[in-house]
Amino acid sequence: MSQQEGIVACITRDHRKAETLFDLVSAATTNDEKKKYFALLIKELSIHTAVEERIVYPVIPSVLPDGHQMYEKLLADHQSQKEVLAELESLDVTDPKFNTRFNFLKENVLTHVRETEEKDILPKLEAALTLKSKMDMGANYERAKYTAPTHPHPSAPNKGFFGSVAQVLSAPIDSLRDAAKGLHSKEAQAREDVVKAKAQTEPKA
Ligand SMILES: [Fe+2]
Repeated sequence: MSQQEGIVACITRDHRKAETLFDLVSAATTNDEKKKYFALLIKELSIHTAVEERIVYPVIPSVLPDGHQMYEKLLADHQSQKEVLAELESLDVTDPKFNTRFNFLKENVLTHVRETEEKDILPKLEAALTLKSKMDMGANYERAKYTAPTHPHPSAPNKGFFGSVAQVLSAPIDSLRDAAKGLHSKEAQAREDVVKAKAQTEPKA
């Protein structure tokens, strides 16, 4: 992030990144390409899910009129996404079940992102929070990514103090796991591909 952004812009940017990665996995023409983009998608979705749960979702019950109900629904959506993501992570991309479960996850995440968060939650947060709160939350959200898990942990607590502790404890273990798989170098290449893919799809000014 080159300059500080409010929380809604931070979340929206991550959503576009996740959508690009879903499309890259769907459009991959080789198994290696599919594995590379899927590994990056696992990482991006795991981080995004974790930092929303740690920084954004806990404020929802106190600032939105239907906040308690929304909070539980958002956590339930994330829980089912983590379960499917963990299931997919255990499959090879050539497994006959992979595409069906991947398409289920894609549909699930895109509905959550577009219908629940971008049409409902984010506009309500935009209206309910002060400019300072939105900027502070944006900064905290970006900072929390450094201690967020990079793999799904569907059995870990997702609320309150124990949820935050579970995330911080999982992060270094996940990072070692990524290093062992050589994900950090593969990720640099995949990131370049994502930037190129975005440049091709974004309208020219
Ligand atoms: Fe989100």
